[in-house]
Amino acid sequence: MSRSLPDHKTVLDALALACRAPSVHNTQPWRWLVGDRSVHLMADPERRVPATDPDGRDLLISCGAALHHLEVAFAALGRRAVPHLLPNHAEPAHLAAVETHPHEPEVEDITLVTAVNRRRTDRRAYSSWPVSVAHLDLIIRRAAAFGVVAVPITDAVERHRFARAAAAAARQQETDHAYAAELVAWTGRARSAEEGVPAGGIPVRTIDVEGVPMRVFPSGSLAPSPTGAAEEDASVLLVLGTADDDTPARLRAGQATSAVLLTATELGLATCPMSQPLEVPRYRAEIRDRFLDGAGHAQLVVRVGYAPTSAEPVPRSPRRPLADVFAYLPGMAPPRP
Ligand SMILES: Cc1cc2nc3c(=O)[nH]c(=O)nc-3n(C[C@H](O)[C@H](O)[C@H](O)COP(=O)(O)O)c2cc1C
Repeated sequence: MSRSLPDHKTVLDALALACRAPSVHNTQPWRWLVGDRSVHLMADPERRVPATDPDGRDLLISCGAALHHLEVAFAALGRRAVPHLLPNHAEPAHLAAVETHPHEPEVEDITLVTAVNRRRTDRRAYSSWPVSVAHLDLIIRRAAAFGVVAVPITDAVERHRFARAAAAAARQQETDHAYAAELVAWTGRARSAEEGVPAGGIPVRTIDVEGVPMRVFPSGSLAPSPTGAAEEDASVLLVLGTADDDTPARLRAGQATSAVLLTATELGLATCPMSQPLEVPRYRAEIRDRFLDGAGHAQLVVRVGYAPTSAEPVPRSPRRPLADVFAYLPGMAPPRP
């Protein structure tokens, strides 16, 4: 193909893995363009959910997560990906141009790529097994590689404060008809849907963990695990924060989100991204003041913990066909066999 990209099949395999990234409401707000020397990540603004995500932060975090998934996929396939963020200032939807260089896959590359297909958003109660300090340290270090702090809320008093802010944000959002309409449109979908949150991934009953509410979805069919109750849940909440709040910072927050989720999956932990507490500006500011010492900007909260051993696996959420989300730049399509 080119001096910088590997052969077509390797690029398509990497893109298929990149598209397994999490995204708000499983909107998959990305498109990929394959050029001569680079793979280009484009935002798809049509897929923003404006009532849920008024300033487009969740969309950018989702795209950043897909970018990191692509880096992980290329590394395991023998290419080191080098992303250039916002390579074209005249085109703000052009989020990254990714070049690749030959690379000898390492053990970490293989364990991370294995986690891509195993990771699920698990919205149920987790078990009473505590997350070890060593595991938290590794997760925090992997986020830090992107310049993103991951601050764990472990103290009961702090957790209570977080719960109050999260509950207030949820109450405010739930009175918004446009927000409710987006939830209905994007969630509780049938198994055959290619996007949105399927009913099979939403618990029959929404839980709150020590007063921290999980997002309430209109319909769910995921049975609670026979053991494991919200009262015993020993999960840890991590607040991800960045120094700036511009597009590159949010993309890096997305890369760090992916690193946190894949590392946790590699360690056998269940995970759930939670953006709802930050979607109402007043409570986002309150969470920044309490948990980021008033400095920087809160981008996402991630819950990590152990699923009860008796829990049924969460079904894999769907994705759009690769052919719908990628295209070759003119002259780059492979010759027909
Ligand atoms: C930026 C972002 C925000 C999210 N916010 C929430 C949330 O508030 N509550 C929730 O249950 N899931 C949330 N999710 C998880 C998505 O719903 C999930 O990634 C998507 O449905 C695909 O499912 P999967 O993660 O199992 O592949 C969020 C994901 C991202 C990337």
